[in-house]
Amino acid sequence: METLLEIKDLKVSFDTEEGKVEALDGVNLKVKEGEFHALIGETGCGKTVTGLTILGLLDNNAKIEKGQVLYKGIDLLKLNEKQLQQQIRGKEIAMIFQDPSTSLDPIFTIKEQMFEALDNNSDLTEEKKLNLIIEELKKVKLPDVEELLEKYPHQLSGGMKQRVMIAMMLSCRPSLLIADEPTTALDVSTQAQFLKVLEDLRKETKITAIYITHNLAVVSEICDTVSVMYAGRIVETASLREIFKNPQHPYTYKLLHSVLGVETKIEELQEIPGSVPRLINPPSGCRFHPRCEEADEICKIEVPRMVEISSEHFVACHKRVIE
Ligand SMILES: Nc1ncnc2c1ncn2[C@@H]1O[C@H](COP(=O)(O)OP(=O)(O)OP(=O)(O)O)[C@@H](O)[C@H]1O
Ligand code: SF4
Ligand SMILES: [Mg+2]
Repeated sequence: METLLEIKDLKVSFDTEEGKVEALDGVNLKVKEGEFHALIGETGCGKTVTGLTILGLLDNNAKIEKGQVLYKGIDLLKLNEKQLQQQIRGKEIAMIFQDPSTSLDPIFTIKEQMFEALDNNSDLTEEKKLNLIIEELKKVKLPDVEELLEKYPHQLSGGMKQRVMIAMMLSCRPSLLIADEPTTALDVSTQAQFLKVLEDLRKETKITAIYITHNLAVVSEICDTVSVMYAGRIVETASLREIFKNPQHPYTYKLLHSVLGVETKIEELQEIPGSVPRLINPPSGCRFHPRCEEADEICKIEVPRMVEISSEHFVACHKRVIE
């Protein structure tokens, strides 16, 4: 499979009153065309910041210190706001956020917003656009679609808003979807429906996805590859089977083996000692060393490099370097 997106040595920080937050520290990620690539890790490890960086949506206090985000060979970090808006957002890469209220504008109806998203991204006739919008809204199981189109966001529940947003993104037919905890606001049956919509879309359009989640059951159901993040770095990337059957990084191992079953969510874990470090003055060397039972001196000093264990498995840990 061809690489669709490649993030190379990406370093992002935020200026805050308390100091510089080193949110991403040398992130490397390859997403192949057609794959569903999960991004997992405890809260605050940099998953959302990674997604926002790809689309140039970081807050004003953010600084991209170094790195590249190559999409179809073009470095997105070199594009200006206008280019990102006209050429990339929506039509090439779309992002679904955890909180739908950040993406829907309170002063426009659902219809106006869905049309606007499509206007930027397609040259269909008005009638075809309306049909497409209705079709997408029905796919995410929204009832009374014609009526709903005339409503404003505040007239919808959180779950309905989330479904509208999902339908809006999918109607633009992006090549890459970044889904950031997209089903958190949905009830279980709508979650299942959303996953079905994604599966169908995948068959129809060969869409690629970066799927950010805490839900390992969803990962095991729809993802092909998994990258595990810890404190601003990717520590392990492997095929789904390898990650679950043969995790190599001590953090991945803890993450997966301290769960009682795939139904358990990452935030419910009790058994990884300590907590994710604050990213102002993060730990030296391997950022996991204060919590790692296998840590020794080198781990405190040197950042472990990502090494290839097999063609479908990469890990960054001093104890896993094959001599
Ligand atoms: N605008 C900002 N200003 C300062 N720090 C920020 C800002 N945005 C993000 N951060 C910090 O960057 C780090 C990574 O945050 P991010 O939101 O990417 O985590 P996450 O992995 O998505 O977590 P969660 O699973 O809770 O969504 C955190 O330490 C967070 O506090
Ligand atoms: S590099 Fe060292 S501290 Fe980090 S995960 Fe490996 S053994 Fe643990
Ligand atoms: Mg997040």
